[in-house]
Amino acid sequence: MRTVDTLRSVLRFRSIETDPVERRLARAASVEDLRRIARRRLPGGVFDYIDGGAEDERTLAANRAAFATTGFRPRVLRGLAKVDTETAILGRPVPYPLVLAPTGFTRIADPEGELAVARAAARAGVPYTLSTLSTRSIEEVRAVSDGRLWFQVYAWRDRGLVREMVERAAAAGYEALVLTVDTAVLGRRERDVRRGFSLPPTIGPGTLVDGVLHPGWTWAFVRSEPIRFANVVGREVGDGAAPVTLADYINTQFDPELSWADVDWLRSVWDGPLVLKGVQAVEDAVIAVEHGVEAVALSNHGGRQLDGAPAAFSLVAPVADAVGDRIELICDGGVRRGSDIAKAVAAGATVAMAGRAYLYGLGAAGERGVDRVLDWLRTDLVRTMSLLGAGTVADLDRTLLDLR
Ligand SMILES: Cc1cc2nc3c(=O)[nH]c(=O)nc-3n(C[C@H](O)[C@H](O)[C@H](O)COP(=O)(O)O)c2cc1C
Repeated sequence: MRTVDTLRSVLRFRSIETDPVERRLARAASVEDLRRIARRRLPGGVFDYIDGGAEDERTLAANRAAFATTGFRPRVLRGLAKVDTETAILGRPVPYPLVLAPTGFTRIADPEGELAVARAAARAGVPYTLSTLSTRSIEEVRAVSDGRLWFQVYAWRDRGLVREMVERAAAAGYEALVLTVDTAVLGRRERDVRRGFSLPPTIGPGTLVDGVLHPGWTWAFVRSEPIRFANVVGREVGDGAAPVTLADYINTQFDPELSWADVDWLRSVWDGPLVLKGVQAVEDAVIAVEHGVEAVALSNHGGRQLDGAPAAFSLVAPVADAVGDRIELICDGGVRRGSDIAKAVAAGATVAMAGRAYLYGLGAAGERGVDRVLDWLRTDLVRTMSLLGAGTVADLDRTLLDLR
């Protein structure tokens, strides 16, 4: 009798989850778990396009290592009844200090692509930056989101095209322009080189087996409309209707001569806030201030451009010391947890920015995967602040960090 009572008190059977997406999500407790699920679900070439970095991937690893090697110095007994994560970026409130980074070709992770990410970002209340090389257009993304949208600009050789895109972004109510300045030429992403990866991916003998081994992704891919560079469909610059390697596309279409004069030009054709993404030296942050830029994203493109560039997080404190009172700072690269956001802000960033974190969620579980990631980042941050004894974002400062 006693055995039965004991068993009855401990036996718990989870109800069987019939929805495959929920089943996948139920097995995940972190962004890293979603990365592993995405790795299983996506063909190798697609996963590597998202996951990989340039050359030896040292900068890719450094972005994560910089957070990992920075500890906290928590304070206790601060009597915090609740934690408030609200702050502001570009002069407007945001429920927690995060902006979603632009990622090109998002529909290869999931057919809903940018639409799914924009909807999830709007629900979470955080700004979403649409890439120039998005697979849904400026207008299509605005149509599904009443949230804050920023538009990322690459410098096409054809400045008329840039101007046209800027005007479209303004007409669609995008709030800010994000000029990416770390891509004079494309970094050598050797995983893509090895696989001969193109955009859109092609199906040939090499990829056929990969496709068959990932039936969920392949079925969704062939059923959905063809993937294109949606902002330039039908234009002379090429819209991806003919598969192209990213290196060929960027190296022929984008202007390596981009300079500070172009920043001034962009200012003259855009009324709203301007963010420079890819600043990697204190000296350049100082020049950005002189050019009247509202914010800089300290970023090495997620380790996808210059291998050997400094970790994004390592730049925050020195840049904040030099110009933090005159310009807003965005820490972009390696953010996988709310505690990373806390570290970035404590070091002096206004907000953090994340790319792969939401792409892993999207690749693992579609839009619900992105929701899950955004929820984790927020709840992680609340928990971290609570354990640090920081009641507000303003309380996050360097005294709470063990910066070696
Ligand atoms: C798959 C992928 C595509 C990207 N495409 C773009 C892009 O089109 N424009 C851009 O400025 N940055 C692009 N990035 C860089 C991100 O905006 C961001 O800097 C980077 O992802 C930050 O590092 P994280 O992935 O560790 O968060 C891309 C990154 C990834 C992973």
